[in-house]
Formats: sequence, C-alpha cells, structure tokens
Amino acid sequence: MNDEFSQPADDAPWSQGPLNRRELLAAAIATSAALTPRGSVMAQGTEPPASSRELWQWVRTQPVLDTQVAYLDSASVAPTWRACMAAEYRARESQSLEVTNAALEDRWITESTRLATRFAAFSGCDADEIVFTHGTGEALSSVAGGLDLAAGDEIITTSQEHPAALSPWLMLARRRGVIVKQVELPVPLTGPEQVLGLFAGAVTPRTRVLAFSQVQYGDGALLPVRDLCQFARQRNIVSVVNGAQAFGMLDLNLSDLGCDFYGASFHKWLGGCQGSGLLYVRREMLDRLWPVQPRGIDASPPVFVPAQAPAQNGVPAALHKFGNVVPHLWPALRGGEAALDLQAQINRTRIEARVRELAIYARLRLQQLKKIELLTPGRPGLWAGILSLRVPGRSAAELADALVKNHRVYVRRLEWPKSDAGALRVSMHIFNSHDDVERLLNGLQSLVGK
Ligand SMILES: Cc1ncc(COP(=O)(O)O)c(C=O)c1O
Repeated sequence: MNDEFSQPADDAPWSQGPLNRRELLAAAIATSAALTPRGSVMAQGTEPPASSRELWQWVRTQPVLDTQVAYLDSASVAPTWRACMAAEYRARESQSLEVTNAALEDRWITESTRLATRFAAFSGCDADEIVFTHGTGEALSSVAGGLDLAAGDEIITTSQEHPAALSPWLMLARRRGVIVKQVELPVPLTGPEQVLGLFAGAVTPRTRVLAFSQVQYGDGALLPVRDLCQFARQRNIVSVVNGAQAFGMLDLNLSDLGCDFYGASFHKWLGGCQGSGLLYVRREMLDRLWPVQPRGIDASPPVFVPAQAPAQNGVPAALHKFGNVVPHLWPALRGGEAALDLQAQINRTRIEARVRELAIYARLRLQQLKKIELLTPGRPGLWAGILSLRVPGRSAAELADALVKNHRVYVRRLEWPKSDAGALRVSMHIFNSHDDVERLLNGLQSLVGK
C-alpha cells in the first residue's frame, strides 16, 4: 500500500516514485519560482516567514499564477496553491498505482473518516456533520432537493443570490409549487438590522426555509448570519447558508454560527483544488434531509447487491447517509487538506485580518476617484474580501476588458439591477498586495479620470 493514504501530504515520499512525476508536476507548475530541486512546492518542512512583510511576500509566490498579473477575482475562482496542486497530483498518482490493492476498502473508511474529521475541525463542527461535494452549488442543491417541501411552502432568499444557489429553489417552485420570495437588499447596506427587518417582514406561517449567502457575491455585503439563523431556529424555519465567499477567508465556526446547512467551495478563498467543497448538515438535521445521491444500501430488511460501493458503511454519519464520494474526490480533497495546512501555518486570524486590511486599503484608494460609486457597505462588520463598484454611464464590460488589456488587472464584471452599464467586483485575497491595488487604481484612473 502506498503510504500516501496515511501520511500528511508534506511527508509523502516524493522522490521514490516512478520516473517522470517530478517532470509532470514541474510542467504543471512551470512558472514556479518556489520550485525546489526535489520538485516540492514549498520548501518542505520550513515555516513561512514570521514577519508580516516577508510573510506576505512569501504568500505571493505560493499560488500557481502568473506573477505579472494583478489577479483580483478570487471570488470567481482562486488560483490553486502550489502545495495543493502537488498534493493533488501525488494523491492521483498513488490512487492509480493502488488500483490493484484489494485491501483498499478499509483504507477508504479510515481515510474518509480522517478527512471528515480534519475539515470538521477547520469548520467548527463534528465529522458526522460533513459531506464532501464538488462545490457550493452541489451542496445547496442537495439541500433543496432533499428537504420535504410541499406546494405553498415558502423559501425566503435575497435579491442577490448566485444562480447555483437560487436555481435549485426555482426548480422546486416549478416542480412542486413551493413559493420563492426574494427580499430586496438595499445597496449599500447600512446596518445588519436592515437585513433582519427585511427577512422578518417576509416571513409568514408558511415559511419553511431562509436561504442566503454569508457574503454576497455581488456587492460583497457580509450578512448577520448568526442573528438570521437564530431568528429562523426560533420559528422552526430551516436556515441554509451559502458560504462560497466566506469559507477559507473568514475564521468561521459553523456550530457557533447556528445554521442548519452550509455549503462551501474549496476553489475560492481556501485556494484548494478545483471542483471540491462541502456541505455541513447540523446533526439535528440529519433526519430531516433525504439523500439525493445515496451510494450505500441502507434498507431494512437488507437487500442483495453484488458489491457495495466503497466506504459507504463505517464512515461518519453524514457521509454514510448522503453518499461518500471521498474515493472519487480524494486527490482534490488531499489538495484541500494542504490548504488547511497552509492556513494553519499562516494563522487564520492573520489571514482574515490581511484580507480586510487589503480591502480597506482598496476602499480608501478607490474612493479618491470621484466618478466611482462603491457598492459594498462601508460600515465595519458588513463586508469581507469583496469590494464592488460602478462608474455611472460607463460600461463595466468595457472597463474590465481595458483593465486586462492595458494593465493586466483582472476584476469581474457584474450585471447590475436597473443599469445597462453593470458593475465591477474586486476580490482581495491574501496573495494580493498593495501594488495590485495601485495597479487597479491607476488603471481605473486612466480609464475614467480622477
Ligand atoms: C455566492 C456563490 N454561490 C455559489 C457559487 C457556486 O459555487 P461552486 O462553483 O463551488 O458550485 C458561487 C460561485 O461563484 C458563488 O459565488
């Protein structure tokens, strides 16, 4: 058995494998300034620098990204950390090497349990409450598809949800006649009480679900999640939180947040591998949700099957009930684990503080441009890593294209309600720098004036 299964990624026996893996990885990350002769992605076993200045310079070299660009769009998809990519590659290789190993079944149980425990510890919940998915969309779809909802039941959500979060409820409206109500969040928000008031005003005796994002992907507003979840729980309403723009950026604790369900992606703020994420199911909700993709047989009396899918039994409760895809997602999850290691090395509080510091800096700089209207709330506590803006009368699409073409600055163009021009979304990740902000500022200044 290849010991990749049981060892932390950093201890994997990099140099003992078949020929070419180093070359393969090196080709995949050819731009790496940090690539060592052994092919490792970080100087293995070394800690990141302690002093802030050196630390953030070091972090800048960690994603697999062209260092010449100012990439300010991690809210869409972040570049992957080198360490994650290496761990993913090593896992993929060992998985292939191990196809002949008949003892794999038990190892999948141990490994699935270990991964659920690891991500649960990071998320502030229990291993029994974690299901792995391909991302936030899949996580939230399984909630919409798995709750017992009937015609006339109401789902209250906001006017700013991502299509992957809104569509599952809209499908239910068509299929089963549930009613989807969208509360119109003001832009910019001026206080958490506005959000609570809007949700409270929309609730009726038929309300079954509140579904909203922790951080809005459009205007970047950070919603008062704990208060909303408490409000919902007191009324026996299910709370479904979209964590796509928060997971890996905010130092969060799901038990403390009090939501019933939480969906997250590893390929955004965590900087993990593409196509991976999780669904948190609060323990008390395990019985309320039907699995939409069960993989194990859980019938009484037992039914005959020629062979069970691997690792469906003997794993933590949510994985068992909702279908354990660890054997499929394993390389990406090992990659995600490397991102957890990186976060632990850097320190999560420091990560959140760095993102916020860059976002404040960007706000202070951008608000000097008179033509720019900031859409993200300015009030402390109401924003995270996203800063959205618009320039009235100027096409956001054209501005975004020109920023790339003339300045190699990447931001995201958004549609904006009641406006043909749209808006721009700027994301500040820990690998970004004050220089990136300056490049954005200079670019915008040259396009729209001071
Ligand atoms: C707020 C929000 N929800 C859901 C998604 C979909 O996430 P995933 O691609 O992981 O399914 C995104 C992706 O950008 C998002 O920003």
